[in-house]
Amino acid sequence: MWPVKFPKSCILNIETMNPDLFEKVVSLCKRRGFVYPSSELYGGLSGFWDFGPLGVELKNNLKAAWWGRVVHGREDVVGLDSAIIYNPKVWEKSGHTKFMTDLLVECKNCHQRFREDHVKGECPNCKGKEFTDPRPFNVMFKTYVGPVESDEGLAYLRPETAQGIFINFESIVNTTRLKLPFGIAQIGKAFRNEITTGNFIFRSREFEQAELEWFCQPKEADKWFKYWQKERIEWYSELGMKKENLKFREHEDKERAHYAVTAFDIEYQFPWGWGELEGIANRSDYDLKAHGLKYRDEEAGEELVPFVVEPSVGIERSAFAFLLDAYHEEPGAKSQESRVVLKLHPKLAPYKVAVFPLVANKPELMKEARSIYELLTKNYQLGPVAWDDRGNIGKRYYSQDEIGTPWCVTVDYQTLEDRTVTVRDRDTTKQERIAVGSLLSYFSGKLS
Ligand code: GAP
Repeated sequence: MWPVKFPKSCILNIETMNPDLFEKVVSLCKRRGFVYPSSELYGGLSGFWDFGPLGVELKNNLKAAWWGRVVHGREDVVGLDSAIIYNPKVWEKSGHTKFMTDLLVECKNCHQRFREDHVKGECPNCKGKEFTDPRPFNVMFKTYVGPVESDEGLAYLRPETAQGIFINFESIVNTTRLKLPFGIAQIGKAFRNEITTGNFIFRSREFEQAELEWFCQPKEADKWFKYWQKERIEWYSELGMKKENLKFREHEDKERAHYAVTAFDIEYQFPWGWGELEGIANRSDYDLKAHGLKYRDEEAGEELVPFVVEPSVGIERSAFAFLLDAYHEEPGAKSQESRVVLKLHPKLAPYKVAVFPLVANKPELMKEARSIYELLTKNYQLGPVAWDDRGNIGKRYYSQDEIGTPWCVTVDYQTLEDRTVTVRDRDTTKQERIAVGSLLSYFSGKLS
């Protein structure tokens, strides 16, 4: 059954939520194969999600869009793909074994545990009013390396990808010709044993982060902080996110992470209110110093410990924000049903194109449509291409609208005469006739 039955404690701020939008998007995600509860066959596992055929495309498109702008689109950033498990000394030095903690309280009535800042005077599960004193809980998942489960083999699943970048700092500087300022970027899995998960894929225990560590002269950190704030907001706008749904919020002293001297969140207006979408932090020289690392400026003949500005975003969280932002319901024309349209930016849409024969029972139409489908599919730069020959054409359009496919190609009788097809635009529903031979350049022009 869907929506998946979260324990009440997993749903935050339910009273301020816009339940309609939230539930509609969650239900669409399951119905159309974006997101499934992980291990659903065995009752699920709280805080873990699987991304289905459309979800994996959306996530891959998001990662490509991030990597494209942050790494490939510039000469001063390189990428990294580090291991997930590091020598546990990394986490001691970085302060995570000490500080990667949330304050946990237990309801004295139902004995459920919650993050202290999520309780607001009343148990979210049973409305109890009495709690134990808060105590720190380290959210790093533990594991053991090697065949013996002893303290010697104790290791952690990384709670952020950033430390992988810091511990490779020297190798990267030595094997490239990067000079300050420069960046090292990484996209990869992170794990946190969150006390309270919830709001669908907003807060989970396994997620992916896209992080950039930008190394610069200490005196230039403020300038670069502003630069990355602007750059990251532009990324969201470029991908069509509504400006009015985004804002910056500066962290108060008590909420800043142990490594940060300044931190701003880019917040998104989620159905339950404003919430963190991305964090941008000035980590100062905290991490490089903690690992005893320095940078040698050959030209100035001096050694220094650079400052680090870090934009960091969760891929699933931003996927969710893009889905919410793109969700539209429009009244249908004349007697038609209303339609649900995911107005995702074409670069993010799981399918860019769908191909339909006008009717399925005419072999010559089917043959022509299949050959066009194969032509577009083999050009794998378009990503996967959808095929649909069921039901009536209107229903097929609506079905593609709901998953955000920007263009539908219909092969009709005229195609057999003049080798043109109709291309229907998801957002305007307008159709134009395009020659089959021009289709690839037509779509690549739209996607560039
Ligand atoms: N390296 C810095 C860092 O990890 P963070 O603010 O804890 O900072 C950065 O996390 C981003 O990672 C968040 O803005 C959010 O998008 C994502 N994120 C953090 N915890 C998450 C969770 N439990 N589930 C999903 N995404 C999460």
